[in-house]
Amino acid sequence: MAGRLIVISNRIPMGETVSGGLVVALHDALGCAGGIWIGAHPETGAGDDAVEELGTAPYRRLAFRLTEEEQANYYLGYANSVLWPLCHRRGDLVEMRSEYQAAYQAVNARVARIVARIARPDDLIWVHDYHFLPLATEMRALGLPNRIGFFLHIPFPALGDLSVLSQPERFADDLAHYNLIGLQTRGDVARCLEMFRADPRAEFMPDGSIKFRDRITSVRSFPIGIDTAGFAADAAQEAVNPFGRESPGRFIIGVDRLDYSKGLPNRFRGFARYLENRPEGVRPCLVQIAPPTRQQVRAYQDITRELEEIAGHVNGAFAELDWTPLRYIHRAVPRVELARLYRKASACLVTSYADGMNLVAKEFVAAQDPENPGVLLLSRFAGAAEDMTDALQINPYDVEDVAAAIGAALEMPLEERRKRHEACLEVVRKTDVTNWSTDFLRVLMTCTPSFDFPDFH
Ligand code: ADP
Ligand code: G6P
Repeated sequence: MAGRLIVISNRIPMGETVSGGLVVALHDALGCAGGIWIGAHPETGAGDDAVEELGTAPYRRLAFRLTEEEQANYYLGYANSVLWPLCHRRGDLVEMRSEYQAAYQAVNARVARIVARIARPDDLIWVHDYHFLPLATEMRALGLPNRIGFFLHIPFPALGDLSVLSQPERFADDLAHYNLIGLQTRGDVARCLEMFRADPRAEFMPDGSIKFRDRITSVRSFPIGIDTAGFAADAAQEAVNPFGRESPGRFIIGVDRLDYSKGLPNRFRGFARYLENRPEGVRPCLVQIAPPTRQQVRAYQDITRELEEIAGHVNGAFAELDWTPLRYIHRAVPRVELARLYRKASACLVTSYADGMNLVAKEFVAAQDPENPGVLLLSRFAGAAEDMTDALQINPYDVEDVAAAIGAALEMPLEERRKRHEACLEVVRKTDVTNWSTDFLRVLMTCTPSFDFPDFH
């Protein structure tokens, strides 16, 4: 690659230890290409065009500061109270406010100015997620000639749902300013193409790319993955015992940010239904780790309360003096402990109503002992379900289905567990995080730049 790689995402790793799916992926890509990562500082500040250097090796990390108002209106507001529910099919939770949209636009314009100050024309620019949909529009307006790619980590919205936005026609227009639009699944690509097909400003070219006014863009799926080998190695570390002396015996694991898209209430209800009809003498646990997220948004406060109530009911109804069926932990745990937990679990329960990919499903599979693997129960609405067809797929809207699948997983013969696990592991290996970033960047590098300003810079 001739130029550098410039990555922009709202979240940026703060410490020296790098962990987590997206962070590891970008860390690898940036390490190889020698690049720059730009993101929002977790603490608020002046809201000007200044950036703080967070670290320089093996790549530079630069953070800008949002004002408190921007944090409320851009991040909690437009990004997480409009775009997040819209893309996760929860139009009922969308909260429209004009100050949200204004702040979103203003932050995108500011980040564009920051990038324009730093970028050289041969740098590749890779923008991540729904916080920055209009960033390419803003960067083009400043004359940036670079190849600019975009990756959406969450589901692509259905065409009809876009009408929730005050200016739905801007969605396609903003996306079409990118040379390459990367999405998680083939289903996401189909929805994105449906949006362009319905737009009179778009014209499909013979090679499958889209001409939108004077710009050419391409849409492709790049299913994100994890650092499979690294995760498996952490999981096999026997020295780590996450439970101390309180081992729960046979257990099912759930790991999710406490988000309404994850279907947690129905997961608990499904587990309760299983407990009602379970075979005599069987006393499994559900260990649910669900750290708080976006707690200033009302929908997140509501789901937190609802879940606490259901958890209380389940334990009230089923617990015995020496058995707590539901262990619900409302905070994050270190990754190596998480890996160990996955490995010790008999099953993992993923019940998302909508989910871009769901990395937990991939982490669970990577963490298993192939000789005696646990069973993945995977919502058919998670992006991961598109390729992981050998997981036990479930319908999270159907509590009976969840309960029946829990029973089937806990009773599944070793041979079937091995066969399913082997097939799932093959998918996890093939869509490894390194493949994800190298595939995306390889395709982006072959895209025709939309603009050609040889004198720029
Ligand atoms: P989302 O991106 O919507 O949060 P994913 O399942 O794709 O969902 O990714 C979640 C990531 O966050 C995974 O890498 C998972 O291991 C990590 N994670 C989720 N909950 C916890 C937790 N309680 N402690 C530590 N890591 C967590
Ligand atoms: C999802 C989004 C990411 C986001 C993450 C955590 O994975 O796709 O963009 O960073 O959730 O959410 P947060 O609001 O804490 O950044």
